[in-house]
Amino acid sequence: MPILQIRTAVYPGSFDPVTNGHLDVIERACRLFDRVIVAVAHNEQKAALLPVGERMRLITTVTAHLKAVEVATFDGLLVEFARNAGASTLIRGLRAVSDFEYEFQMAQMNRRLAPEIETLFLTPSEETSFLSSRLVKEIARLGGEISPFVPPPVAKTLKTRFATTRRKSPTSRTANRSKPKRHK
Ligand code: PNS
Repeated sequence: MPILQIRTAVYPGSFDPVTNGHLDVIERACRLFDRVIVAVAHNEQKAALLPVGERMRLITTVTAHLKAVEVATFDGLLVEFARNAGASTLIRGLRAVSDFEYEFQMAQMNRRLAPEIETLFLTPSEETSFLSSRLVKEIARLGGEISPFVPPPVAKTLKTRFATTRRKSPTSRTANRSKPKRHK
C-alpha cells in the first residue's frame, strides 16, 4: 500500500501588504505542494505599515479559493518554524536579478542552519514581476491608483489607511507668490 506523504512548503515574508505578485507565487506553490503555509514574519526591528494580524487577515481573505493554504505568523528563526511545521521546502519569489544576491545569501544560510530543508525559487508572472509591497505603499501614500497591483481587499485597506493620513497631514503646498521677497 503506498504511504501518503503530505508535501508541505512554507512561503515566508513580510507581506506588508500582500500583492498580486505574492498571490501569483502562492498559486504556483499550491500546484506543487499539498500544504502551503504562508508565514508572516513578526519582526520588531522592521517598521511595518500594517499590524501582523491585519496582514494575516488580508492573506486569508485573498487566498480563500486555495484549499492548500494556511496562514501563520512566526517571530523566531524561519528554519525552526519550517521544521516545526513539518515542511520540506521554503518558497521564495524571484522577480529579477536584483533579488538574487539577497535571496542566494539567505538560501545558503538557511541551508547551513537546516540542511534537510530546500529553498525553491518561483518566478512570478510577467505582469507582476515588477511589483513590490514597498512601491505599492508609496503609490498609495501619494494618492495613486493601486488596484491593478493588489487584490481588492488590500486596495481598500490601503486607500482607507492613507486617506486618513492625508487628511491629517496635507503634503502638497504651493509657493506663496503674493509677496515676493526683496533681496537686500
Ligand atoms: O518579505 P521579506 O521581508 O523579504 O521576508 C524576509 C524574511 C521574513 C523571509 C526573512 O527576513 C526571514 O526569514 N526572517 C526570519 C528570521 C530568520 O530566520 N533569519 C535568518 C535568515 S537567513
